[in-house]
Amino acid sequence: MPAKDVGRTEVERIASSLVRVEDEHVAGLTAFLQDVDLTLSALDSPDVFLWIDRDGAGRITGSTGFELSADRRHALIRSVAVHPSARRAGYGSALARFALDAAAREGAQSAWLFSRRSGPFWQKLGFEHANRDELAAVLPDAHQVRLFVESGQLQREVAWSRRLDHASPHERTGPRQPFA
Ligand SMILES: CC(C)(COP(=O)(O)OP(=O)(O)OC[C@H]1O[C@@H](n2cnc3c(N)ncnc32)[C@H](O)[C@@H]1OP(=O)(O)O)[C@@H](O)C(=O)NCCC(=O)NCCS
Repeated sequence: MPAKDVGRTEVERIASSLVRVEDEHVAGLTAFLQDVDLTLSALDSPDVFLWIDRDGAGRITGSTGFELSADRRHALIRSVAVHPSARRAGYGSALARFALDAAAREGAQSAWLFSRRSGPFWQKLGFEHANRDELAAVLPDAHQVRLFVESGQLQREVAWSRRLDHASPHERTGPRQPFA
């Protein structure tokens, strides 16, 4: 099924099985994201919104998340990943759309992300090429942005963005409780 046609049903199905990442999940998520070569910054930070999905044996099969700008108008979509054995079946699109919906419910009006390898996947979800410096300017405090600026990696990154649909404020996801 083309990503643009991934129905609400698929997003709703994964929404019921996704688990918000807490400290007990961080080691597993770190290993999962390391295997798919994604950034590991701030996975234990309470201001990063992250979810994992697991199979019946408890193995992580997918992850998704975002960070918000201080004014909450911009979301940096991050950590969207599917286990290699489950790819090309619409799962990644559902995970990405879940994060986009959740960021919109938090009030974000624009979604941004870095992706050097998966541009066509994001284009199917409505993203267009963006200016990496503009991304860094609207999300200067995002952990991933700070890491890329400090390491010099920003200039090697490819940025993408799209507008977000309006969502009603009463559906907000709510902040995660800080770790005890
Ligand atoms: C990118 C990723 C999440 C896609 O997951 P997925 O479950 O395979 O995605 P979907 O099945 O929903 O794919 C949707 C569409 O995008 C296309 N697509 C998926 N990955 C693609 C890629 N890397 N390059 C080009 N097209 C891609 C699919 O062919 C599909 O198009 P179609 O419906 O016309 O066939 C997965 O490949 C992954 O985890 N990659 C490693 C981590 C990563 O790069 N994450 C993104 C950066 S945050």
